[in-house]
Amino acid sequence: MKGEFILEFLKEKKQVGAVAPSSKFLCRKMCGPIDFEKADVIVELGPGTGVLTKVLLARMKSTATLISIEANESFCAKLKDRFSDHRLKLINDSAENIGIILSEHGFIEADYIVSSLPLTVIPLIVKNRILDQAASNLAAEGTFIQFQYSLNAQRLLKRKFDVVKLDFTPINVPPAFVYQCRNLQYEDAITSESMSPAFVKS
Ligand SMILES: C[S@@+](CC[C@H](N)C(=O)[O-])C[C@H]1O[C@@H](n2cnc3c(N)ncnc32)[C@H](O)[C@@H]1O
Repeated sequence: MKGEFILEFLKEKKQVGAVAPSSKFLCRKMCGPIDFEKADVIVELGPGTGVLTKVLLARMKSTATLISIEANESFCAKLKDRFSDHRLKLINDSAENIGIILSEHGFIEADYIVSSLPLTVIPLIVKNRILDQAASNLAAEGTFIQFQYSLNAQRLLKRKFDVVKLDFTPINVPPAFVYQCRNLQYEDAITSESMSPAFVKS
């Protein structure tokens, strides 16, 4: 899988955005905020060779759905060979189309959106569209989870979401930051006054 990943990186550097698949530590960290007992619909953005897809499927309940959206055709074809789980819907498309893809599968929103997209190398106009789609297609109590190798995306994420919490794992190549982003409901907005200012949009 690592070889397959490096080959795609050499062909499509800007799209793939990493030289190696995520470590199991990073995958675990990405799953940390997910309440798998409650999650009915999870959207994964940029599954690549499927390291995180595998962890998500292993922890999801039997009635849940995972919609994994991958722009790279070759990764998508290999994922289709690799996974034969009825809960997984693999879509070869851009993450800019989360809303349409959810409705085509009969869903109005996602409980969690888990993204490995390389925001640093994605053009601003495209990442604005993707993050707007993520924010507007998230359930009221939902969480958008995103990893990045730098803090470049922090300001943009704070513009799109009300609450942005930051975590870190050194055990990945390269070490990675993990963002948890949420939108506040009216009641939350009141209680958020008691939250640590570091985690709330400034
Ligand atoms: C850094 S890799 C992550 C792969 C895998 N999830 C992992 O953690 O090892 C980023 C993935 O995002 C995909 N990607 C990039 N832009 C995309 C877009 N606009 N929509 C969907 N997938 C995209 C790339 O093809 C690549 O598979």
